[in-house]
Amino acid sequence: NEKYSIAIDGPAGAGKSTIAKEVAKRLCIEFVDTGAMYRALTYKILKLSIDPNDYLGIIEILTNTKIDFRNQSIYLDNVNVDKEIRENYVSQNVSYIASIKEVREKMVQLQQQMAKSKSIIMDGRDIGSVVLPNADYKFFVTASVKERALRRYNELVNSGETNISLSKIESDIIKRDNIDSNREIAPLKKVEDAYCIDTTDKTIEECVNMIVSIVLGR
Ligand code: C5P
Repeated sequence: NEKYSIAIDGPAGAGKSTIAKEVAKRLCIEFVDTGAMYRALTYKILKLSIDPNDYLGIIEILTNTKIDFRNQSIYLDNVNVDKEIRENYVSQNVSYIASIKEVREKMVQLQQQMAKSKSIIMDGRDIGSVVLPNADYKFFVTASVKERALRRYNELVNSGETNISLSKIESDIIKRDNIDSNREIAPLKKVEDAYCIDTTDKTIEECVNMIVSIVLGR
């Protein structure tokens, strides 16, 4: 049983994390949601009322911040922030923070460390391109922007947010994808050796089965 790694990249709301979590369960390997790490840092910055454009302020926070996972939960300075990082105002600001070079360097280093000693499935934007360029399996998971907006909207409604509209969620997603795809460092893109899965008309189960069968069929 040798160690292997699976990279899952794609735009916001395509279902990456949901799928990756399930694949991890089926294959009995660890799942790392790298977006949660950028979200945790963003949450801290906003909570401290630091302007997302205050570069020096952000760098200082970055050096004094501990982010880690324990049993699939994310901890910010030893406090569980699973819930807080999913809030809409975090989503609206995270792409600015994630475009900063020093931020990415620190996160990528942590992510590579996590993948060093064990089999892992990691989801994000730059996993197949930068974090794990030698991953054994690479997937690019996407869906139509309408479908992705609808999924995020339902997620937010289910978590109790009331003051949101579907069209605002859609424009936020388009904006976030634009920033993520056009940033200078490690932009979101499909790498050549990634297998593309369009989840628009597929169930979670179908996508999970596709990935598991590709991995087990090697
Ligand atoms: O995956 P999720 O939507 O939670 O990611 C939140 C944000 O974190 C993304 O929009 C992107 O700006 C950033 N991110 C990134 N690189 C990753 C994962 C997430 O830049 N590997």
